[in-house]
Amino acid sequence: MKRRPLIAGNWKMHLDSVKARQLARDLIPAAASAGNYDVMIAPSPTLLPVVAEAVRGSTIILGGQNVCWAAQGAFTGETSPAMLLELGCRMALIGHSERRHIFAEDDRLINKRLSGALEHGLIPILCLGEMLEARRQGLTFKILEEQLRSALINISITSSDKLIIAYEPVWAIGTGQTATTEQAQEVHVFLRQLIGDIFDKTIASGIRILYGGSVKPETMAALMYQNDIDGVLVGGAALNAESFSKIINYS
Ligand code: 13P
Repeated sequence: MKRRPLIAGNWKMHLDSVKARQLARDLIPAAASAGNYDVMIAPSPTLLPVVAEAVRGSTIILGGQNVCWAAQGAFTGETSPAMLLELGCRMALIGHSERRHIFAEDDRLINKRLSGALEHGLIPILCLGEMLEARRQGLTFKILEEQLRSALINISITSSDKLIIAYEPVWAIGTGQTATTEQAQEVHVFLRQLIGDIFDKTIASGIRILYGGSVKPETMAALMYQNDIDGVLVGGAALNAESFSKIINYS
């Protein structure tokens, strides 16, 4: 099945409103010429109104960096799906390694977030990835299977476009050390098979699986050449209009 690639930028806790507005505007031409690709950016929640305004009418999709399961309520520090939707977001990252490792978000919480996002009509980008020690010990597939299965407990989706997976090996995030294309492809095939097992073969063949971790303009083409890599989730290189535009227009 032909999957529409997604090139996503995670701005993390960077930029101010002036820089965010400028960066968003500067990305519009690259996104417009991206053809059959989706381009998404995920600014921090405080920057969303400014960025939403800057990209209005363009092809750029907006996403949240995290999302709560509840529509509203006593959840200090959280952003609800309705709040993201109101600002024009269609997607939200969930389970990013920085949430898991710096803020101790566990699989149960990630499952709740995912369930809430789906219920409210946001497309979750479920992030998974093993730490360096796990890879060294040969535990990569075991860890990824645990992360995927527990995130998807009691979750059902009606079609493959309702959910996106992002494989981000923790040792490759912000380190300049991209996984080799073979390492990434091998994991993506494994995750796709698991999705087939958890849901069904049609969903597995249509679901988009992104790679993230030190993606740069120079590494983009080789990654995208792999059969099961359906796009990328970019951190550092998404904060610069020139480098992210090159990533978007890599081919
Ligand atoms: P880098 O591209 O800076 O390694 O970050 C990847 C990432 O965490 C995207 O979510």
